[in-house]
Amino acid sequence: MAQNWTADSWRGFEGRHLPVYPDAEKLNEVEKTLTSFPPLVFAGEARALKADLAQVAAGKGFLLQGGDCAESFAEFHPNNIRDTFRVLLQMAVVLTFASKQPVVKVGRMAGQFAKPRSSPVEKIGDVELPSYLGDNINGIDFTAESRIPDPERMLRAYSQAAATLNLLRAFAGGGYANLRQVHQWTLDHIGKSPWATKFRETADKIGEALDFMEACGVDPRTVPQLQGTSFYTSHEALLLAYEEAMTRQDSLTGEWYDTSAHMLWIGDRTRFEGSAHVEYLRGVNNPIGMKCGPSLSVDALLRMLDTLNPSREAGRMTLISRFGHDKVEAGLAPLVRAVKREGHPVVWSCDPMHGNVIKADNGYKTRPFDRILTEVKGFFAVHRAEGTHAGGIHIEMTGQDVTECTGGAVAITQEGLADRYHTHCDPRLNAAQSIELAFLLAEALNAEREGAKAEAA
Ligand code: PEP
Ligand code: CO
Repeated sequence: MAQNWTADSWRGFEGRHLPVYPDAEKLNEVEKTLTSFPPLVFAGEARALKADLAQVAAGKGFLLQGGDCAESFAEFHPNNIRDTFRVLLQMAVVLTFASKQPVVKVGRMAGQFAKPRSSPVEKIGDVELPSYLGDNINGIDFTAESRIPDPERMLRAYSQAAATLNLLRAFAGGGYANLRQVHQWTLDHIGKSPWATKFRETADKIGEALDFMEACGVDPRTVPQLQGTSFYTSHEALLLAYEEAMTRQDSLTGEWYDTSAHMLWIGDRTRFEGSAHVEYLRGVNNPIGMKCGPSLSVDALLRMLDTLNPSREAGRMTLISRFGHDKVEAGLAPLVRAVKREGHPVVWSCDPMHGNVIKADNGYKTRPFDRILTEVKGFFAVHRAEGTHAGGIHIEMTGQDVTECTGGAVAITQEGLADRYHTHCDPRLNAAQSIELAFLLAEALNAEREGAKAEAA
């Protein structure tokens, strides 16, 4: 158990990117109400994810984490949840088939609302207003009223997270994710991408393997794993008032858990030493992610690992590197080397999104697909050179056919960005770009496996 920690001890530390609520009384009431609400996830589930991630840390598996940059109240619709879930599962199928390793699936879903912003204010023409901070804090409309932090938004976020999680659980366990269904999942949402054909080929091969296994007596009735899949949720633990109110003590073990999601992560802007966010997360027993960007020194990272995982429990820490396509090789290598030398059991995951944002000529924030791929390749190259496992990917994506990142096989141009640019925050990969990325990852994982085999021979 963490020393000198309580669910509210973060309040004595420096908290960046936290809203200031004008109505303190209302905030208090909302916190009380949330504290009385049922947990969204259970401690045992968080432990199951930790055990899965421990396997990944040991080189036996791959973490696939993805979803919206920011979930929104406006885009809350069962079809959106289904489509994102389906693309994540399709990616997982491609990865599992190619790498012959289990893929741990974690959505940036059912709670990913709060956003750290590069500027506290937004200016349009002569008007300057506080920035939009995510739907659980204030509104995206560019009006003074909408930008006032409103505590009641946390209650709406809770209920949206609960409904989303409920649907995800049904999809994962209720037959939709049965491997036999892979054939039936339509690919309309990936449009004319050449990767659709490649996906169908993979699905056909899986179908053949299932036919063969069924003839041998292995089918969904005898092997429940074929009927469904495990699917976990995660978000950035940014809005600490909400996370604190969702903190519960597990009756079985007496340990504390943040029951708002299975996994929580600390953003690149809130992972500094002395941070309120680090203080809060060190005391909850969920699996924790930490973003690692160019400003993180080797020493600070090692101290952070000692703070967040003093007992060096495998599966506790996932380090999510986000350097940018041109900085990943030089920036990541020293961190990987030091963590390996110190014997910290971590999952190394690659976020190829947040270091690769550019402004298109027409003003849209975008991410060129080739830079995303370059960062992923750089990530694998570092791990190959250091003899460590490239353990995961962390992406902002959606199952919708949006036009937010340029490039990909169905090339989206800068001019095309305006067609279907729907994100509430950062640009996401669309369904076709996500599947394309999965095939590239599959190739890289295969190369890693072949390399390991050759070394063992
Ligand atoms: C994010 O993942 O949405 C995010 C803000 O990332 P980072 O903290 O790495 O900038
Ligand atoms: Co983002």
